[in-house]
Amino acid sequence: MTPSGTPPEAARSPTQAGPATTPSPRLRLSSGAASYPVSQASDRPWRPAADVVFCAEEVGVSYGAKRAVRNITLDIHRNEATAFIGPSGCGKTTVLRCLNRMNDSIPGFGLYGSLRYHGHDLYAPGVNRVEVRRRIGMVFQKPNPFPKSIFDNVAWAPRNLGMKADLDERVERALRAAALWDEVKDRLKASALGLSGGQQQRLCIARAIAIEPDVLLLDEPASALDPIATASIEELVHDLKTRYTIVIVTHNMQQAMRVADRTAFFSLDRDQIGTLIEYDRTERIFSQPADQRTRDYITGRFG
Ligand SMILES: Nc1ncnc2c1ncn2[C@@H]1O[C@H](COP(=O)(O)OP(=O)(O)OP(=O)(O)O)[C@@H](O)[C@H]1O
Ligand SMILES: [Mg+2]
Repeated sequence: MTPSGTPPEAARSPTQAGPATTPSPRLRLSSGAASYPVSQASDRPWRPAADVVFCAEEVGVSYGAKRAVRNITLDIHRNEATAFIGPSGCGKTTVLRCLNRMNDSIPGFGLYGSLRYHGHDLYAPGVNRVEVRRRIGMVFQKPNPFPKSIFDNVAWAPRNLGMKADLDERVERALRAAALWDEVKDRLKASALGLSGGQQQRLCIARAIAIEPDVLLLDEPASALDPIATASIEELVHDLKTRYTIVIVTHNMQQAMRVADRTAFFSLDRDQIGTLIEYDRTERIFSQPADQRTRDYITGRFG
């Protein structure tokens, strides 16, 4: 049994009832009137560390019959940037998307093990996915602004969530935090599609932070950008982590070294299934990795 009581081979589809955990008093993710049922099944009680935002224990993912990742055990810490690195296909995006239940809509998706957010089982029955996405925002590899004005892009989520008071101030705050305000303040009504790629990506970050989430998930946010735009995204990550917890997937190891406090190295195991090889403080991963596979990867000797 996994710590949460799930048999290792029993995937928990998003609609399936999973084991529940004791809720933290500060958060309430449940959509129903009742809060979470209390777990009877856990053989290892949850002891939240004050700075742990996500706690993954023996997490695995399958897409239908295909097992994509397994044995992912790691904590994500508050107000830190955590980088996921590793070769293509090792499951970085898959694990990242598990953190805000973005995989739920993929047919055949199943999650194994235990994934907790501030002590809550993210996959427990009754978890409100809208509330999960409100707290855990995501920015994708390819900038994807809506075909709307710059203002309406940033105002979109607050409007949808009924945060209509002081909308102008909220939009300005988000654009300033995303280091885009000065470049767009005179053309807020212009189409977002007229922005450069780097500006569009910062707009997507502004859109994500307009509702003041707790966590920002970034999947290779600078991979399509030139070095100047990349540097501005990196600076932004550096600034934003004072307010948010950030998880960033990157293929750029210099970028991981520059922005991340901790780094998780994923790779494929002997069955070609993605797994976590090593997770540590970034400077340690890059200077004294414990595992030969990490050493080979960061020195370019992989494959
Ligand atoms: N929607 C899906 N349906 C089926 N299999 C998928 C799906 N998404 C990902 N996979 C598989 O899961 C595994 C991990 O993919 P994932 O995209 O998470 O890797 P990654 O580390 O992000 O790769 P990259 O660096 O190329 O972005 C791969 O074998 C991939 O083919
Ligand atoms: Mg990916």
